[in-house]
Amino acid sequence: LLSFVLAESALELVPKEIRGSPSVASDARRRGVDPSGILLDRSFHHSAMTRLRDSERRGRPDLVHVTLLNVTGTPLYLEGRVKVYVHTRDDVIVEFREKTRIPKNYLRFRGLMEKVLVERPEGELVSARNAGLKELVRKALSPDFVVGLSVQGSPMEPGMLGKQLAVIEEACVIVGGFPRGHFSPSTLSLVEELVRIDDRPLEAHVVAARVVYEVERALFSTNR
Ligand SMILES: C[S@@+](CC[C@H](N)C(=O)[O-])C[C@H]1O[C@@H](n2cnc3c(N)ncnc32)[C@H](O)[C@@H]1O
Repeated sequence: LLSFVLAESALELVPKEIRGSPSVASDARRRGVDPSGILLDRSFHHSAMTRLRDSERRGRPDLVHVTLLNVTGTPLYLEGRVKVYVHTRDDVIVEFREKTRIPKNYLRFRGLMEKVLVERPEGELVSARNAGLKELVRKALSPDFVVGLSVQGSPMEPGMLGKQLAVIEEACVIVGGFPRGHFSPSTLSLVEELVRIDDRPLEAHVVAARVVYEVERALFSTNR
């Protein structure tokens, strides 16, 4: 089984500091919900976000959505051989039960994430709990091998990575769920091998799709 972890993801509820700002207040009014239950989204809250620390790495739930779609639509996922976790930058783990499909429409995805981050359901198709990446990887998953994907890693052909992952019983792949920058030192400390699959920086969804596809090719060519 492969665990796919989107790490330090730019997914969070609107933080206290900007709940009263005009862009957040008008968004909340329009939707008829309390500002504390709204997903921080740069497309709607850009002007308020300039006041936030680390602003350029936050408020991109769309990146998380697109990446999840790219993983959960694959044959590997549909066969229940890859499990998906989203770790957020403020240490919440969102877990998707095996084979759970996620809404393709962004507004529905936003609604689902808001519900999950507010209510923190446990044991549901989509659940959420407070936990850091270390707790997830070392305690909950305890995989045989952890690979991190980063443009700062050592070059490896994606097909080679797929073959390497396919022979490992419990492998964990970590991709960054943020729009800019690199993994934090604490994420890097969990990674056994840091790999780049292209010399260019790529979007997380492209990297995710390629890695899953290459694992699929390696697995399905030998097991079928
Ligand atoms: C949009 S990028 C993060 C921003 C930054 N430009 C970068 O590439 O590190 C999101 C994630 O995609 C993955 N990624 C991007 N380019 C990659 C590459 N060439 N090889 C491997 N992983 C890559 C990394 O996991 C990264 O954290």
